[in-house]
Amino acid sequence: MSKTKNLYIKTFGCQMNVYDSERMATSLGAEGYSEVSSPEEADMILLNTCHIREKAAEKIYSDLGRYKSLKAKNPDLKIGVAGCVAQAEGEEIIRRQPLVDIVVGPQAYHRLPAMIKSVENGKKSIDTDFPEEDKFEYLPSAPKMKRAPSAFLTVQEGCDKFCAFCVVPFTRGAEMSRPVSQIFNEAEGLVERGVRDITLLGQNVNAYHGPMGSADATLPQLIKELSKINDLKRIRFTTSHPNDMTQELIDAHGEVEKLMPYLHLPVQSGSDDVLTAMNRKHTAKSYMEIIEKLRFARPDIALSGDFIVGFPGETDKDFEQTLELVREIKYAQAYSFKYSTRPGTSAADSKKQVPEEIKSERLAKLQNLLSQHQKEFMGSMVGRILPVLLERPGRMDGQLVGRTEYLHGVHATIDQAQIGDIVNLRILGADTNSLRAEFVSF
Ligand code: 5AD
Ligand code: SF4
Repeated sequence: MSKTKNLYIKTFGCQMNVYDSERMATSLGAEGYSEVSSPEEADMILLNTCHIREKAAEKIYSDLGRYKSLKAKNPDLKIGVAGCVAQAEGEEIIRRQPLVDIVVGPQAYHRLPAMIKSVENGKKSIDTDFPEEDKFEYLPSAPKMKRAPSAFLTVQEGCDKFCAFCVVPFTRGAEMSRPVSQIFNEAEGLVERGVRDITLLGQNVNAYHGPMGSADATLPQLIKELSKINDLKRIRFTTSHPNDMTQELIDAHGEVEKLMPYLHLPVQSGSDDVLTAMNRKHTAKSYMEIIEKLRFARPDIALSGDFIVGFPGETDKDFEQTLELVREIKYAQAYSFKYSTRPGTSAADSKKQVPEEIKSERLAKLQNLLSQHQKEFMGSMVGRILPVLLERPGRMDGQLVGRTEYLHGVHATIDQAQIGDIVNLRILGADTNSLRAEFVSF
């Protein structure tokens, strides 16, 4: 057998990249690579990159710059760039940073082993195709080793919506859904390895329409299929577009016990003028109506959202409407960003760009309000008894760390239960980022 080689993968961006990195590590594992936790030990460094905002993309080049000294020490070290920057910039990456050997886009990961072989023979290798074949059919599944109780599972990729700010349709390509049977088998495999909580991933996951028998299944149908797996206890999905929040999917929140009462549903802005300019094709009111229906179907549902401030043309009045929507909904969790111009997107050429200082001011105001609501929501957990999935050991002796249905981290000293169990804990207090609790019962 040939000597094992060390692989260091660094993942940027969304959960989809986290999932892809895991699949790539498994696939390269079959080629004799074992994962290490620092670039200094590596024979191969792989950056799985994100192109969503300018800052995310620029980070890659500063990381690559730092690897120069490693390559000087070890001339056999190979460096690959995968993910959305690879897709968007292609060979430009090697032009800008010649120490890069491999550039591979998100739809070509199953070709990575062949690319590495050609690189080992001294050639650079670039693949940013959107191939006909489905990469997931060709990527090997993970060995049957125990793993952490929460996992991501990509069920859908790509996007056909073309929001005016967003690179995803360009980096991840057209919308595609994996077949139900393929997802079901993968979910069963994860559950056999100890997984109890699965988050179904897709850039447009609620538009899911994968084949099941001779017809296409919807996301709620897929969720109902997966809920039949006995030891799978929790199901989540992210990220969704308001326009694909069908009544069937809303109702599923009331019908499927395993579907968690927590939904990430980005609105981006509370102003109809901005939403139109963003090509969102929904209004603030239609969004609010969906939230109302969800709360009717599942009264304990908590919401999470994404916001962009300073989209071209956004006025003070538009921004005020975003604050109003936030005050009305009270998100349990939210992500907010300054608008960042992305090459190739339709808003990029707008002459109505908002000055940076105004963007910063608005972001600070919005984040202040969002974090106030976030704190209130977390505080409202104190005194309650909540089901918590125990995920990993804590820093202190005998301490375990778990997650509530709302994804709050919980610390408790427990000797009655073990990792992978769902136990009832009494919430004693809330710290900045997590809850403290004590064991009550199984
Ligand atoms: N600028 C700022 N934020 C963006 N997002 C997507 N594209 C941009 C951009 N060009 C945000 C959106 C999206 C989240 C994943 O990232 O809020 O929902
Ligand atoms: Fe970033 Fe979007 Fe690519 Fe995820 S899909 S890594 S958020 S650009």
